[in-house]
Amino acid sequence: MKKTIILLLSIIIGLCVISVALALETDKDKNKKTTKQKQKIKGNENKGKYLYRKECRPCHKRNSEIGAPELSPNSKTKAQWKEQFIKENYVELECAKEWKKKSEEELNNILTFLYKHAKDSNNPASCSQQ
Ligand code: HEC
Repeated sequence: MKKTIILLLSIIIGLCVISVALALETDKDKNKKTTKQKQKIKGNENKGKYLYRKECRPCHKRNSEIGAPELSPNSKTKAQWKEQFIKENYVELECAKEWKKKSEEELNNILTFLYKHAKDSNNPASCSQQ
Protein backbone atom coordinates (compact mmCIF):
# COMPACT_ATOMS: atom_id res chain seq x y z
CA MET A 1 0.00 0.00 0.00
CA LYS A 2 2.73 2.42 1.04
CA LYS A 3 4.67 1.53 -2.06
CA THR A 4 1.70 2.36 -4.30
CA ILE A 5 1.31 5.77 -2.67
CA ILE A 6 4.99 6.55 -3.14
CA LEU A 7 4.80 5.41 -6.75
CA LEU A 8 1.74 7.59 -7.41
CA LEU A 9 3.38 10.57 -5.73
CA SER A 10 6.50 10.24 -7.84
CA ILE A 11 4.41 10.04 -11.02
CA ILE A 12 2.53 13.21 -10.05
CA ILE A 13 5.73 15.08 -9.18
CA GLY A 14 7.31 13.87 -12.42
CA LEU A 15 4.37 15.18 -14.46
CA CYS A 16 4.58 18.55 -12.71
CA VAL A 17 8.26 18.88 -13.51
CA ILE A 18 7.65 18.00 -17.16
CA SER A 19 4.82 20.51 -17.58
CA VAL A 20 6.83 23.33 -15.98
CA ALA A 21 9.74 22.51 -18.27
CA LEU A 22 7.45 22.55 -21.33
CA ALA A 23 5.89 25.87 -20.28
CA LEU A 24 9.33 27.43 -19.91
CA GLU A 25 10.37 26.11 -23.29
CA THR A 26 7.36 27.62 -25.15
CA ASP A 27 7.91 30.90 -23.31
CA LYS A 28 11.47 31.01 -24.56
CA ASP A 29 10.23 30.40 -28.10
CA LYS A 30 7.73 33.24 -27.84
CA ASN A 31 10.43 35.60 -26.62
CA LYS A 32 12.58 34.74 -29.57
CA LYS A 33 10.01 35.76 -32.18
CA THR A 34 8.89 38.96 -30.51
CA THR A 35 12.27 40.16 -29.27
CA LYS A 36 12.13 43.91 -29.27
CA GLN A 37 14.34 44.85 -32.17
CA LYS A 38 17.33 46.88 -31.19
CA GLN A 39 18.40 47.02 -34.82
CA LYS A 40 18.62 50.64 -35.93
CA ILE A 41 17.21 51.43 -39.32
CA LYS A 42 19.93 53.74 -40.47
CA GLY A 43 21.29 51.97 -43.49
CA ASN A 44 21.89 53.50 -46.89
CA GLU A 45 18.56 53.57 -48.65
CA ASN A 46 19.97 53.94 -52.16
CA LYS A 47 22.34 51.05 -51.74
CA GLY A 48 19.45 49.05 -50.31
CA LYS A 49 17.27 49.81 -53.29
CA TYR A 50 20.02 48.79 -55.68
CA LEU A 51 20.66 45.56 -53.76
CA TYR A 52 16.99 44.72 -53.46
CA ARG A 53 16.43 45.15 -57.18
CA LYS A 54 19.51 43.21 -58.12
CA GLU A 55 19.35 40.38 -55.58
CA CYS A 56 15.78 39.95 -54.36
CA ARG A 57 13.46 41.33 -56.98
CA PRO A 58 14.44 38.90 -59.77
CA CYS A 59 12.68 36.16 -57.77
CA HIS A 60 10.07 38.39 -56.15
CA LYS A 61 8.75 39.97 -59.33
CA ARG A 62 5.19 39.72 -60.59
CA ASN A 63 4.26 36.26 -61.90
CA SER A 64 7.54 34.76 -60.81
CA GLU A 65 7.96 31.28 -62.33
CA ILE A 66 9.61 29.90 -59.19
CA GLY A 67 6.58 30.58 -57.02
CA ALA A 68 7.94 33.45 -54.96
CA PRO A 69 5.32 36.07 -54.08
CA GLU A 70 5.63 39.52 -55.61
CA LEU A 71 7.29 41.74 -53.03
CA SER A 72 7.64 45.51 -53.06
CA PRO A 73 8.30 47.88 -50.17
CA ASN A 74 4.55 48.50 -49.92
CA SER A 75 3.78 44.78 -49.55
CA LYS A 76 4.30 45.08 -45.81
CA THR A 77 4.06 47.58 -42.98
CA LYS A 78 7.11 49.07 -41.29
CA ALA A 79 6.63 46.77 -38.30
CA GLN A 80 6.31 43.72 -40.54
CA TRP A 81 9.53 44.52 -42.39
CA LYS A 82 11.35 45.11 -39.15
CA GLU A 83 10.18 41.81 -37.81
CA GLN A 84 11.00 39.98 -41.04
CA PHE A 85 14.61 41.14 -40.81
CA ILE A 86 15.17 39.65 -37.34
CA LYS A 87 17.53 36.75 -37.90
CA GLU A 88 15.35 34.19 -36.12
CA ASN A 89 12.59 35.04 -38.58
CA TYR A 90 14.40 35.22 -41.89
CA VAL A 91 16.33 32.01 -41.35
CA GLU A 92 12.97 30.26 -41.61
CA LEU A 93 12.20 31.60 -45.07
CA GLU A 94 12.53 29.47 -48.13
CA CYS A 95 15.11 31.93 -49.50
CA ALA A 96 17.17 32.11 -46.27
CA LYS A 97 20.31 31.09 -48.15
CA GLU A 98 20.02 34.24 -50.28
CA TRP A 99 19.85 36.33 -47.11
CA LYS A 100 22.83 34.57 -45.59
CA LYS A 101 24.98 35.59 -48.55
CA LYS A 102 24.51 39.22 -47.51
CA SER A 103 26.49 41.04 -44.85
CA GLU A 104 24.68 42.59 -41.91
CA GLU A 105 25.32 46.00 -43.43
CA GLU A 106 23.80 44.99 -46.76
CA LEU A 107 20.72 43.56 -45.06
CA ASN A 108 20.37 46.75 -43.05
CA ASN A 109 20.52 48.77 -46.29
CA ILE A 110 17.79 46.61 -47.81
CA LEU A 111 15.67 46.92 -44.67
CA THR A 112 16.14 50.70 -44.71
CA PHE A 113 14.87 50.89 -48.29
CA LEU A 114 11.88 48.62 -47.64
CA TYR A 115 11.03 50.32 -44.32
CA LYS A 116 11.11 53.85 -45.69
CA HIS A 117 8.67 52.94 -48.45
CA ALA A 118 6.49 50.49 -46.50
CA LYS A 119 2.72 50.42 -46.82
CA ASP A 120 2.26 52.68 -43.79
CA SER A 121 5.21 55.00 -44.50
CA ASN A 122 4.95 58.56 -45.80
CA ASN A 123 6.16 57.42 -49.17
CA PRO A 124 4.91 53.91 -50.01
CA ALA A 125 6.47 52.42 -53.12
CA SER A 126 5.83 49.54 -55.44
CA CYS A 127 8.69 48.25 -57.56
CA SER A 128 6.45 47.58 -60.54
CA GLN A 129 5.42 51.24 -60.87
CA GLN A 130 8.92 52.56 -61.09
C1 HEC B 1 16.16 32.36 -55.73
C2 HEC B 1 14.95 33.12 -55.61
C3 HEC B 1 14.79 34.06 -54.41
C4 HEC B 1 15.63 35.08 -54.04
C5 HEC B 1 16.93 35.53 -54.71
C6 HEC B 1 15.02 35.71 -52.89
N1 HEC B 1 13.84 35.07 -52.57
FE1 HEC B 1 12.58 35.55 -51.04
N2 HEC B 1 11.46 33.88 -51.41
C7 HEC B 1 11.66 33.01 -52.47
C8 HEC B 1 10.70 31.93 -52.36
C9 HEC B 1 10.56 30.75 -53.33
C10 HEC B 1 9.92 32.19 -51.19
C11 HEC B 1 8.82 31.33 -50.58
C12 HEC B 1 7.47 31.63 -51.11
C13 HEC B 1 6.40 30.85 -50.36
O1 HEC B 1 6.73 30.00 -49.54
O2 HEC B 1 5.25 31.13 -50.63
C14 HEC B 1 10.42 33.43 -50.63
C15 HEC B 1 9.89 34.07 -49.51
C16 HEC B 1 10.23 35.35 -49.10
C17 HEC B 1 9.52 36.11 -48.11
C18 HEC B 1 8.28 35.65 -47.35
C19 HEC B 1 7.07 35.82 -48.22
C20 HEC B 1 6.14 36.91 -47.80
O3 HEC B 1 5.17 37.16 -48.53
O4 HEC B 1 6.34 37.52 -46.74
C21 HEC B 1 10.18 37.32 -47.97
C22 HEC B 1 9.82 38.47 -47.05
C23 HEC B 1 11.29 37.29 -48.89
N3 HEC B 1 11.28 36.09 -49.56
C24 HEC B 1 12.20 38.32 -49.05
C25 HEC B 1 13.35 38.24 -49.83
C26 HEC B 1 14.43 39.24 -49.81
C27 HEC B 1 14.45 40.51 -48.97
C28 HEC B 1 15.38 38.80 -50.68
C29 HEC B 1 16.72 39.44 -50.99
C30 HEC B 1 17.67 39.48 -49.90
C31 HEC B 1 14.89 37.54 -51.25
N4 HEC B 1 13.66 37.23 -50.70
C32 HEC B 1 15.55 36.80 -52.24
C33 HEC B 1 12.62 33.13 -53.47
C34 HEC B 1 13.67 34.04 -53.46
